[in-house]
Amino acid sequence: MCGIVGYIGHRNVSDFLIEGLNRLEYRGYDSAGVATFDANGAISLRKRAGRVCELSEAIDRDPVEGTVGIGHTRWATHGKATDENAHPHTGGNGEVVLVHNGVIENYASLRGQLQALGYVFRTETDTEVIAHLIAHHLDEQIKLGGEPESEDTLLKAVEVSLRKLKGTYGLAVLFRARPDLILAARNGSPLVVGVGPGEHFVASDPSPLLGYTEQVVYLADHEIAILTADRLDLRHRDSGRLSPSVQTLDQVSADIDKGDFEHYMLKEIFEQPQTIENAMRGRFEEDEATAKFGGLNLTAQQLRHIDRIVLTACGTSWHAALVGEYLIEEFARVPVEVEYASELRYRNPPLTDKTMVFAITQSGETADTLAAMRECQRKGMPSLAICNVVGSTIAREADGGVYLHAGPEIGVASTKAFTSQVTVLTLLALYFGRMRHLSYQAGKRMINNLKALPEVVARTLECHDAVQEIASRYLGMDNFLYLGRLYNFPVALEGALKLKEISYVHAEGYPAAEMKHGPIALIDERTPSVFVVPRCGIYPKVISNMEEVKARKGPVIAIACEGDREVADVADDVIYVPEVDEYLQPIVTSIPLQMLAYHIALLRGCNVDRPRNLAKSVTVE
Ligand code: AGP
Ligand code: GLU
Repeated sequence: MCGIVGYIGHRNVSDFLIEGLNRLEYRGYDSAGVATFDANGAISLRKRAGRVCELSEAIDRDPVEGTVGIGHTRWATHGKATDENAHPHTGGNGEVVLVHNGVIENYASLRGQLQALGYVFRTETDTEVIAHLIAHHLDEQIKLGGEPESEDTLLKAVEVSLRKLKGTYGLAVLFRARPDLILAARNGSPLVVGVGPGEHFVASDPSPLLGYTEQVVYLADHEIAILTADRLDLRHRDSGRLSPSVQTLDQVSADIDKGDFEHYMLKEIFEQPQTIENAMRGRFEEDEATAKFGGLNLTAQQLRHIDRIVLTACGTSWHAALVGEYLIEEFARVPVEVEYASELRYRNPPLTDKTMVFAITQSGETADTLAAMRECQRKGMPSLAICNVVGSTIAREADGGVYLHAGPEIGVASTKAFTSQVTVLTLLALYFGRMRHLSYQAGKRMINNLKALPEVVARTLECHDAVQEIASRYLGMDNFLYLGRLYNFPVALEGALKLKEISYVHAEGYPAAEMKHGPIALIDERTPSVFVVPRCGIYPKVISNMEEVKARKGPVIAIACEGDREVADVADDVIYVPEVDEYLQPIVTSIPLQMLAYHIALLRGCNVDRPRNLAKSVTVE
């Protein structure tokens, strides 16, 4: 997954690189490293397993100089998280030094070929083959008469090498022969170039550039950028030289402070009244009792023509999609399918030109979601995005879409993005519903309920102390079941995912009634079940499911509506939330589950914002 940064200009390079890597740490935090040119044109390398702060301390003890360099924060795909496997990696005898985001699928055969040519591998990474391959082709170009220091020679060596790679890469490369130049190349992994007076930047996303420049050029696949302090040249693998299209960054005043909160996750949980409001702002058409969206880029006629919707996503966004399926089918009566993006990209479901695809993603950079969306676009389906990060790859490549406006989500466990996604999906259900069968009165009621939601969510947050107390009593348990039905089934899945990912406690989400078909065998005194059981049409059935667990001595924690005595009679512990219409319940009931995961993780001493093995954005397959 990895985050890449690079700089060439007049500033102290290590300050920019470290600050940039800190901002990109959401993409991975297994190890970090930098390579810089010192005043004599020698390359210095510093790399460390662990977080960027460890690299930063190492640099404080042993500083690097200069105004040109590259850096990397890693999410390991090939090779353990060790100092040796940390990027940057060196090719040949140090002629080439590079950082890489992506996966080289044919690395094993390339490694064999390069070893046969005498190249010595020092790491277990796939990346090292790129470094040696470029060094090798550099050598070949020189043998063919190329000047070792000529830009043309370097470029040819890189172009020939890239053609041999199968897989994905975002690369930033330094050449020992040219301390005045950085080369960046992309295929499948995002890269953006920042343009400033007498300086250029490169990064995996624009966040490291905030405060440095507003002028950016997004690289497309198969593009190579050559950066010097004063010049940016762009080339495409097939079409040769291109003129860069410079865009102005929307300088979102990156709200990346924790404020008074101990963790980003907790801050983001508490931001939800505001973020839900932001997701709805300007999106009501009150006179028509419907929703409106600026960016769908399809006419009402085209939308009317749609007879099937596919929602594709990963992880938490996939859970939001499941809620979306229930919402859209209920209110718009359009058949919806929810597809894991990682499956959809390789499946061949029968989709027609009347099928509309929504890619749902917080980051807009998830590799599987991007690939699934591209596959659908290739087949001619209108493919829209529901996305949080403005200017992200999915947001830029989609045919249209809806932004969440939730602000930066830094905690690896997604919280506010989920409730914003569900809010936007509710608005879409209203919009598609009002185009079809939903009456004016029903539309009006939905709008009124939605408008009241931020205040309801603010009241929901009041359960925090109760959740904290309950968490302390279940802290020692190693297996949990999360159970819910209808709109609360995806909430159960999401609650279980939250607990797993930040506390490393095993948890399974199930439709409550499915439990008796297998998972009930897991129930014992040490396996708590978290029932999501606000009042709904089948409330008595869920109570019966709770009784079934109690009859087998399973502890029960229930998420229930304020004032619900019946649940309290059965459950061991109850967390109360305000009562809302069924279709709005996921937004309310998911919040105590976010808090429960947070407090269990905290009490177990886990790193809540940076859980092990994960990264915020999964930009590899
Ligand atoms: C959520 O808590 C996870 N960390 C993860 O499942 C995430 O939702 C998934 O990787 C999808 O990310 P996206 O929304 O940025 O595409
Ligand atoms: N494959 C490279 C490694 O394992 C880069 C990983 C990535 O981009 O996630 O180091």
